[in-house]
Amino acid sequence: MASSNRGLVLGIETSCDDTCAAVVAGGVGVLSSVVASQDELHVKFGGVVPEHASRRHVEVALPAIEQSLADAGVGPRDLSALAVTAGPGLVGSLLVGLSTAKALAMSWRTPLVAVNHVEAHAYATFLGRPAVPLPHLCLTVSGGHTNLMLVRSPLRMELVGSTLDDSAGEAFDKVASFLGFGYPGGPALEARAAKGDASAFQLPRPVIDSHGHDFSFSGLKTAVLTRARDCADGQRHGWREDLAAAFQCATVDVLVHKTVAAARELGIAVVSLSGGVASNRSLRLAMSRRAAAEGLELLLASPEYCTDNAAMVAGLGWQLFRAGALADVGLDAEPGWRPGVHPP
Ligand code: KG4
Ligand code: ZN
Repeated sequence: MASSNRGLVLGIETSCDDTCAAVVAGGVGVLSSVVASQDELHVKFGGVVPEHASRRHVEVALPAIEQSLADAGVGPRDLSALAVTAGPGLVGSLLVGLSTAKALAMSWRTPLVAVNHVEAHAYATFLGRPAVPLPHLCLTVSGGHTNLMLVRSPLRMELVGSTLDDSAGEAFDKVASFLGFGYPGGPALEARAAKGDASAFQLPRPVIDSHGHDFSFSGLKTAVLTRARDCADGQRHGWREDLAAAFQCATVDVLVHKTVAAARELGIAVVSLSGGVASNRSLRLAMSRRAAAEGLELLLASPEYCTDNAAMVAGLGWQLFRAGALADVGLDAEPGWRPGVHPP
């Protein structure tokens, strides 16, 4: 256990379609982060096919883990703990990560901790920061989730708002798909939106001033679909880029407005932004400007730790390990595990 005082944790993340492994020291120092994307496997289907995702995780999990240990320059005996995502996510994908982690924990005789994927996204803003102000309000906006969480500590996160229907990332993916931008949709839509004029279309901002701290994106998605059908008949040059820009602008407006309103209402002076959609430059810029105008401190997760990764899992895993929240071999996948609810 030569380096166990460095608090080295190996994180394993397989909740959806990326196979990820990482080594993190002391909960914040990322020594390695391996992300094996499956995009090329799912692109022809226009979305993640769960059965294919699980099978690919089986093939790639151990090589990704070996790579993360090699990149970090450590071996199994240096680890204080092993952290694995237990939910929420696709059950088959989760089970691959869990079985791998349990087998390794048993053979290496290393403590195991179970991590909630959404809380891990919120923890991403802690990575690389020696200190993080608490409490703060975290907007976690990804493909599966759009949540506002009050982060009292890494181990105490309370859900204060979530989406009533689609997540923002899901809306990005669906809009990108029917505008013909391909898969994965979010980054493709952002690139096309950069060439468009957002003012060319007036789109709704669903529940921007209602439904408390909850979000809704399905009406916006339908509005885009309707406009797209009208335009496709007329064939105006550049309409796809304009519509993408208008959609992105409406989504960003809602996310920023509701986050700031919640912070004000809850009396919180610090907000943070994480999750796959938080890598969107337009959202990062709008949130930065608005936070500065409102006198709020803003913590942005680094873009590489916004989309799925295992560094956020290992980091939060260290906090759980220190608190003695150990899992055992009976640990099961929790596809619907809500953030803020412990244990799974
Ligand atoms: O956090 P993540 O990698 O996986 C989930 O936990 O869901 O988030 C993936 C989501 C996808 O919906 C993807 O389209 C979206 O994040 N996304 C983006 C961008 N990059 C990824 N959405 C908008 N702009 C981006 N640049
Ligand atoms: Zn995620």
